[in-house]
Parts: sequence; C-alpha cells; structure tokens
Amino acid sequence: MKLILGIESSCDETGIALYHTERGLLAHTLHSQIALHNEYGGVVPELASRDHVRYALPLIRSALQKANCSLNDVDAIAYTQGPGLSGALLVGASVASALAYTLDVPTIGVHHLEGHLLSPLLSDPAPQFPFVALLVSGGHTQLMRVDGVGHYELLGESIDDAAGEAFDKSAKLLGLEYPGGALLSKLAQRGTPGRFRLPRPMLHSGDLDFSFSGLKTAVLTLSQQNELDEQTRADIAHAAQEAIVDVLAQKALSALGQTGLDKLVIAGGVGANHALRNRLHKDISKRGGTVFYPDLEFCTDNGAMIAFAGAMRLQHQPAQHSYRFNVKPRWDLQELNYAD
Ligand code: KG4
Ligand code: ZN
Repeated sequence: MKLILGIESSCDETGIALYHTERGLLAHTLHSQIALHNEYGGVVPELASRDHVRYALPLIRSALQKANCSLNDVDAIAYTQGPGLSGALLVGASVASALAYTLDVPTIGVHHLEGHLLSPLLSDPAPQFPFVALLVSGGHTQLMRVDGVGHYELLGESIDDAAGEAFDKSAKLLGLEYPGGALLSKLAQRGTPGRFRLPRPMLHSGDLDFSFSGLKTAVLTLSQQNELDEQTRADIAHAAQEAIVDVLAQKALSALGQTGLDKLVIAGGVGANHALRNRLHKDISKRGGTVFYPDLEFCTDNGAMIAFAGAMRLQHQPAQHSYRFNVKPRWDLQELNYAD
C-alpha cells in the first residue's frame, strides 16, 4: 500500500487528500460549507449531504491533478466512517466504496477523531509516542493518552458542551456568524483583559473532566447586563476565551502530571486558537515539556488526516476488499484499540 486517497465528509467540510507512505502528503483539497449553513446558524444535515455529493468527485479530480497522479495510481481508499452526520458520512463511504470497487483496491473506514489525534504527525517535527493529546473540536473535548496507533486511553472529557461548542455558542450570543470560534477569537484580540471574569467550571474537580455548558449562560447574563457596544462585545469575547483556554490549559497540564509524560499534542478545530496555543506553549515549556500542533490547515476537518490515519491503520491490520460498508454516526474511539 503506497498511495492512499483520503475522503472526509463527516460534517460540513468535504476534504480530499493523497498521502504516499514514502513521499508524504502529495496533495489535499477542501471545500467548506460554512457559507451554505451560515444563514441557518448551524449545520443542516440534509444540505450537508447534498453538498458532499456535489464536491466529492471534483475535489478528488483536482487533488489527483495537483499530485500529478491518476486514479489508477491509488492503492487504497480511506474514508471517514464515523462519528458524524449519517447522511454526510454515507456520501464519503459510498464514493470511496464505488471507486475502490472499480479500481479493485481496498477501503478502510477511519474514525474521525483518530484522524484528528494523529494529524500532528503530519507536521515537522512530528511527536513521538507516547504523548497526551488534547482533542478539542466542535463535538468533542477529550484528553487522551496515546501510546501508539490503536493504543488510546481516555483520561477525561467534557460532561456536556464541547470546547468548540462553547466558543460557537458564546460567539452567537455576541452576534457573530456560525461557526463563531475563530471570529470570537479575533474579536477577543481587541478586548480589555480583566474587565469581565467568567467562571471556570470543574477547574478544581480533581479529575480531568470538563464542563462548558454554564459558560453560555454566563455570557448571556453579561450580555444582558451590559450595553453591547463594540468594546463591550470584545471584552466579553476576551473573558469567554480566557475562561475556556484557562480550563483547557490547566487540565492539560494536570494530564501531563498524572501520566508523567512531557509531550502534549493539540488536535481539532479549537487547536487553531492562538490564545490556547500561546498559553500552552508558555505553561508547558516552563515545565520542560513540548507542545505539538498540527499545521493550522490540518486542525479543522480535512482529508489529509483521514488519508494519513488510513495509511497508519493499513500498516497494522488487513485491508478490506468486501466493499460492503456501513457508517457509524456514534463510535467510541476506544473500540479501535488493538488488543496487544
Ligand atoms: O475539528 P473541527 O473542524 O470540526 C469538528 O470535528 O467539530 O472543529 C470545529 C470547531 C468549531 O467549533 C469552531 O468554531 C472551532 O473548531 N474553531 C475555533 C477556531 N477555529 C475553529 N475555536 C476557537 N478559535 C479558533 N481560532
Ligand atoms: Zn473534526
């Protein structure tokens, strides 16, 4: 297996990539549906599925062109099998299976979060196993111990909203468009540090779990109590970001302490947040550890992480030639663990 075509379609991004096991990432293409869902204030599953149908093949064509390859060069096809929106996942799974059947190559169903977890390995320098991963996306907030491909231990997770959701909901309350994480972060840059302070739920809970659902209520209260002029919106954005970053950073540090590991890997869309990156870099280098981030374009959903995770999996398990497929809208990452 050398050239892996990766297809990501779990939510609102169609991501395609070609990963070569010796030459690395050859090309990747992406279409974001943000503009499509914008007016609804969130992802509309049916629209997402239809848009994946529209973009999957053209994006595959342009990735092949960029990599100067043809479909016949592809040795295996990796697609996101879950978790995610079932209709959206089905598009990627059926495109992958139909192409693989025609080309007589195997398919491999990839867990979306495993894609995120392994995505920092696409960067240079890549972290060596074992490490602690902080997985922070729109749907998940988890601290994992990663000892290798297929060796994942959940250390803690959010008991309610994910960090990305907390960013997005706070952003919405401040009148920003969906998904507001990056916009909130931009607004926060103009905020006055210390004007508002929001609660840090579960900071002292003694475990590695998180809770973010109270934050939106706190942001709502602040926005009702104050005249929402431009500066106040920026000040609230600053406070919301500070609260989320503070909890994530402190728990990530505790996870390093508990496991005795010194490498932290940040993965998932919220990993693009500069305040989080700066804070973790500062805190972790102070204790002699190292933080690894995927390149910004590989933090949010993309095809490269799926092609890469597929390639890693194919080194450890037999390839699937049956072309029967199912998708797993809900799928526990630890089900993927290898027995040894
Ligand atoms: O990993 P991802 O692309 O999709 C999921 O699998 O969920 O993550 C998307 C999430 C959204 O909640 C988005 O607002 C957030 O990542 N996000 C950010 C930033 N960029 C994306 N949150 C905070 N700051 C950012 N710069
Ligand atoms: Zn994701």
